[in-house]
Amino acid sequence: MTPHIEANHGDYAEDVLLPGDPMRAEWIADTFLDNVKVVNRVRGATGLTGTYQGRRVSVQATGMGMPSAAIYVNELLMEYGVKRLIRVGTCGGLNAENKVRDIVLAQAASTNSNQNQTLFGQFQYASIADFGLLRKAADTAELAGLRTVVGGLVTDDNFYDPLGGTPYEVLKKHGTLAVEMETAALYTIAARYGVKALTIATISDCLVTHEQLSPEARQASLVEMVKLALDTLG
Ligand code: HPA
Repeated sequence: MTPHIEANHGDYAEDVLLPGDPMRAEWIADTFLDNVKVVNRVRGATGLTGTYQGRRVSVQATGMGMPSAAIYVNELLMEYGVKRLIRVGTCGGLNAENKVRDIVLAQAASTNSNQNQTLFGQFQYASIADFGLLRKAADTAELAGLRTVVGGLVTDDNFYDPLGGTPYEVLKKHGTLAVEMETAALYTIAARYGVKALTIATISDCLVTHEQLSPEARQASLVEMVKLALDTLG
């Protein structure tokens, strides 16, 4: 047990999908996994383990933002022997070329998070994806005919910009594709533990065109993203 996970040793698979939303964790397990067992309910952050095409896979909700995600990633790695983590989530597109429902394979995550600043001091650490997972995801997506783009995200500590503007111009000018709130923590902690991590994130809204996924398209895109994540682990 850890402060936020009540599971026993061995309850989690070595491969874990990380959605933010606990309801989505349950939906992923119900939709894609067999032999599902609930392994965590602490604070409603549902964790489940099952099998996908005969291989053990777990799903653990992380909540939103780096502080919450960092708790679950740390505890999965400290106590439960997890080896590969794929975040499945949504992101806000920063340019008009990438449309809603496009899937971002996050090669790297810039961040304004204080977690990385305090850790790396004078250095600005480059939080990067595991290359093997990234390559497999890109190949698998191409075979499946999915619209994907590989590149950098920004992991922002704020969903609502306190200054009321759009603080992303300079990041956009340097090729950053989208904004979300968890990946820099995932990549940094995974690197510290020497394990593999990747974020696969569907663009759910575009900050330039203000286009948003309809509820039906959101569901369909969730199916293709989760299947991509599971096949990447296969
Ligand atoms: N900001 C942060 N995270 C997000 C967004 C956004 O606009 N859209 C989806 N996840």
